[in-house]
This record gives sequence, C-alpha cells and structure tokens, in this order.
Amino acid sequence: MTFSMQYPASRPRRLRYTDALRRLVSEHQLSASDLIYPMFVLEGNKRRESVPSMPGIERLSIDLLLKDAEESLKLGIPAIALFPVTPASLKSECASEAFNPEGLAQKTVRALKEELPELTVITDVALDPFTSHGQDGLVNDQGYVMNDETIEVLIKQALSHAEAGADVVAPSDMMDGRVGAIRQALEQQGHTNTCIMAYSAKYASAYYGPFRDAVGSAGNIKGGNKKQYQMDPANSDEAMREIALDIAEGADMVMVKPGMPYLDIVRRCKDELKVPTFAYQVSGEYAMHKAAFAQGWLKEDEIILESLLAFKRAGADGILTYFAKDAAKLLKKA
Ligand code: PBG
Repeated sequence: MTFSMQYPASRPRRLRYTDALRRLVSEHQLSASDLIYPMFVLEGNKRRESVPSMPGIERLSIDLLLKDAEESLKLGIPAIALFPVTPASLKSECASEAFNPEGLAQKTVRALKEELPELTVITDVALDPFTSHGQDGLVNDQGYVMNDETIEVLIKQALSHAEAGADVVAPSDMMDGRVGAIRQALEQQGHTNTCIMAYSAKYASAYYGPFRDAVGSAGNIKGGNKKQYQMDPANSDEAMREIALDIAEGADMVMVKPGMPYLDIVRRCKDELKVPTFAYQVSGEYAMHKAAFAQGWLKEDEIILESLLAFKRAGADGILTYFAKDAAKLLKKA
C-alpha cells in the first residue's frame, strides 16, 4: 500500500453531507415576506387580458385584481406594486390623467385598501402610462424630457396616490430631485407615514420590453429610448451617488432595477449605504425564464427559487417579481 496523498486540511463537503447539516449552515433564506407582486390593472369589469410576452401574467379589471391580490396576501406576500393600463384616449402631452383622483390607479388603491387593508399597496410614480409619447415626463419641442416641469406633475400624481390610501409611492421616473420634492409635498399635506420607495438605480434597460407591452406604452415610445434620464448600464459608482441622493432627499427604501444582471449594484448598495434595498426582477427577466421553461430547457420550480435566493444573497431585503405567487406557493410546499 502506497499512500502518498496528503489529506486535505479542510473538507467543506463535510457540511454538505446531509440535508440537516446543509440547513444548519445555510447563510440566506427566501421567504414570502421578501416578495412584492407587480400587478397590471385595466378599466372595466370582469376583464382579463393576457400579455403575450409575459405568459401567466394578466391585466385585470379591479374586481378580478382584488381576488388575485387577496390570494397573494393569503400566500404571505406583504405587498403588491400596481401598474395601470391607460386607454390611448386618456393619454396626452401633459399626462393629466396621472393625477386624476378618479383615475384607474387611484380607484384601484381605494378598492384595495378597503377590501384588504393589511396588504401594502405600492404605486408607480412616473408619467409614461399617461403620455402620448410614452416618455416618463413632459417633453419640450426638441423631444427632451424636462426635469423640473415633470416634477410638478409627479408631485400631484404622488399626492393623489397618497390621498387614495397608497402605503408606499415609488417614483420610477429618474428625474433629478423628485424624491425630495415629493417628500416635502407629502409632509405638507399630512401624509407623514406614506413611504417612498425610490427607483434610485434604474438603468436604461432593454429588459423592460415586455412591461411596455403590458401597459401599452411600447408603441408610443416607438424608436425612442430613455437614456437621457435612466442610467447607463456601464455605471456602478454613479448608482451609489443616485442612491445616496435619494436617501438624503427622504427615500425610505431604494431599488435597483433590473435585477439579476445588476446584483453587483445591490451588493454595493447594501455594503456601502446600508439602507433597505429592493431589487426588481423585471419583465424581460421573467419572459426569458418563461421561454426556457416552455421549451423544457430549465426546471421551472427550482429556477424560480434559485433566482430569487440569489437576490437575497446579494443583499436585497425584498424583491419585486412576477414570480411572487409561484414562489410563495413553492415555499409553502417546501
Ligand atoms: C415606468 C416603469 C417601467 C417599469 C416599471 N415602472 C418601464 C420603463 O421604465 O420603461 C419596468 C418594469 C418591468 O420591466 O418589469 N416608469
């Protein structure tokens, strides 16, 4: 017998030997409490429309959305993020439908808070569902999105959401200074407990394509893009500056978006700024997963949980994901 081999000083595999040991040493955990479910709402009654580029996701009228929201709540999901689908006839250059107290988003918030008061409702503060050109703000003759003029409208929109009962308003427009302006207005109007979740590091990403189909703004924006206000995917230090600004202006929570391709930004945010950090696994990420599941190329259940756990490992406190209900069901089974 000739044993020339040296025994390894350490054997990390020992702690992987049994399921019990693996559970004991696991560093991160995903729970339904980490999830935020994005929902699309339509005018009308008993209406449901599928979104071709987002299989499994539907635009729902308020009555049906309430049922779906109730199911989410029962699954342990603490919050939903609401996105209205605005008919073309209500879109305009000045986006005035955005702050209509009887607008679809506002009506839906009121219905949700009445029926399901314990469910946290997050509203999107941005003008793109309401502008005829599909940009997130008001544009001048050169097509440039005007910062300060847009903020005036965003303030009215955020206030109308808070008045309807939104727990959290989430500015997703990337105008400079909007968080501070919205915070001031909320305070002045007595909405001291309305939270702001700022889409702070929001990149000019092609991963938002299916979302724009879902809310019907893809056609409006045509060949345009949002690179003059959303961030350059090449930048990381700049994301830290954006997040620090939003915190200084009064954001309670910050968000990184998209999610999986930007987990480095989530980690930096958590390490450097130590603030409640959320990430959005966006429509394009959902779509590519669903496409691979449909082909039988990836195992749906395992991939959903693995992809969401990766956000937790990167430091996210919570995740906005179209898989929220699927994941919550899987977590119940596990
Ligand atoms: C609106 C908004 C967008 C998303 C959330 N809020 C689209 C955009 O900025 O064009 C994208 C979400 C997703 O892709 O799932 N400002």
